[in-house]
Amino acid sequence: MTFADVKTYFQANHARFADLAWDDPHQLSLSQKRAISASLQTFQRGEGTGGDHLLALADQLGDADYAAAMRLFIQEEAGHADMLGQFMDRQGIPRLKTHWLHEVFRGLGRPLGLVHMVRVILTAEVVATVYYKALFNATFSGLLQQICRRILLDEEMHLVYHCLAVRQLSPPRNWLSALFWRQFYRGLMAGTALTVYVSYRRPLRAGGFGLGSFCAAIATEYARVEAMQRGTAPLVARGGQPVAAAEPAGAWQWPNPSLRVAR
Ligand SMILES: [Fe+2]
Ligand SMILES: [Fe+2]
Repeated sequence: MTFADVKTYFQANHARFADLAWDDPHQLSLSQKRAISASLQTFQRGEGTGGDHLLALADQLGDADYAAAMRLFIQEEAGHADMLGQFMDRQGIPRLKTHWLHEVFRGLGRPLGLVHMVRVILTAEVVATVYYKALFNATFSGLLQQICRRILLDEEMHLVYHCLAVRQLSPPRNWLSALFWRQFYRGLMAGTALTVYVSYRRPLRAGGFGLGSFCAAIATEYARVEAMQRGTAPLVARGGQPVAAAEPAGAWQWPNPSLRVAR
């Protein structure tokens, strides 16, 4: 897999963006709204981060395909923010202009260059892969479930793209430095997961994730990401275009087994 492949994928993905049931009249009940609003506001804000600094770093790298893929990735995240924002507008949930968690992540991502920033973004992406599954399970809104499904499928290629970048762009390190940074990013992942759980345990619990199962899901996902970064696992995007007749009912499941596999 190359950055050109990722760019091509993002371009095709953009072209089939998003055939959602915006005419769904379902209104969240008060208790549902109370359970999910705060987390929705935070994740909607986080998806719409912008990415000017990230794009500038990608441009400086001098790889046209990587920079083009980065542009498309940022557009896709902005699309997620837009979908969630439109849903929130319909449900009377106000959009946030800023959030402390978002500011912390912006601050963490900036100082150490492109690869560091990508690894910080990966931390947020891993949390997203579990949060949107919980949200899918927690809501009775068909539209919100469609949005969650669309985001979860998109996030798969985001993980692959960033892992490919970490694999190819990381500077050579001796074992001590590699160990330090591995532990540093694991610590960041653990801290982020705990913060998210403490802040948003209501929607996570409603979606079937207690503290133990949430941490286990994050750990499993992060182990997969680490293996993809190291090259000990193939770069795999799970899921694919769901087939209507085979749509899962109830709790989130991937609509198909791994469809897009690249080494
Ligand atoms: Fe996203
Ligand atoms: Fe993403």
